Amino acid sequence: MIQLALIGIGTGNPDHLTLAAVNTLAQADVVLLPRKGKAKSDLLDLRRLICERWLSAKANIVEFDLPTRAAQGDYQQNVRQWHDAIAHCWQQLLATHCPQGGRAALLIWGDPSLYDSSLRITERLEAAGLPINVTVVPGITSLQVLTAAHRIPLNAIGAPVHITTGRQLREQGWPDGIDRVAVMLDSGGAFTTLPNPEHYDIWWGAYLGMPEQSLMAGRLDRISEPLLQHRQHLRDTQGWIMDIYLLARRG
Ligand SMILES: C[S@@+](CC[C@H](N)C(=O)[O-])C[C@H]1O[C@@H](n2cnc3c(N)ncnc32)[C@H](O)[C@@H]1O
Repeated sequence: MIQLALIGIGTGNPDHLTLAAVNTLAQADVVLLPRKGKAKSDLLDLRRLICERWLSAKANIVEFDLPTRAAQGDYQQNVRQWHDAIAHCWQQLLATHCPQGGRAALLIWGDPSLYDSSLRITERLEAAGLPINVTVVPGITSLQVLTAAHRIPLNAIGAPVHITTGRQLREQGWPDGIDRVAVMLDSGGAFTTLPNPEHYDIWWGAYLGMPEQSLMAGRLDRISEPLLQHRQHLRDTQGWIMDIYLLARRG
């Protein structure tokens, strides 16, 4: 039997690792580390650093090239095929590096429950009959780091929060009956599609938990344009960007 742990590692700060994550890593025989292309090499460096710090000397680190998602065609179908390809890749790696079973680990950005596919991919491994037992070690999410950095509560008193993507906000607009929306995976400026930006506040953060962390907050109509310029500048300087924001209807 292969014991596969999906370990949430937080969002860029090695100190985000929980004691449960550290203990699970210390017991791992194999850690699979994805290479996601040049732009994400900073993120791979963090994973390497975590392994150096917390893995036992006998553990094996296996770096692999993550399959990429097709950009053209039906989005849902492309995602399904991409997950199939990653499942196949993990299956091969686990068969090669854990032939007698053992403890394997994957380091998952933030937490595996939030806009992450690893649990959907491990379901494929289980369905394919791989002798595998999957566990999750929860991690600190980018949403938590955003609210902590701005020192704000996520929800208004007794009120719901909607978590969505930039694409959904652009295509579907503001959800009915909701006053707070957290937006992730925005390729840039989905908030500019909202009518009446003076009716919203925004709390924005990029590279949260990392030395480059950058924050902006204010009334949306006042900071929308400077925020877009700032984001573009950061993206040009760093070569990549990851950002998240919380929007709240005023009053
Ligand atoms: C594929 S999702 C992964 C989310 C992750 N599982 C989590 O728990 O936060 C990637 C998105 O998370 C957000 N994100 C992750 N890390 C971030 C960081 N360090 N700073 C800002 N946003 C981040 C961004 O919205 C990014 O587009």
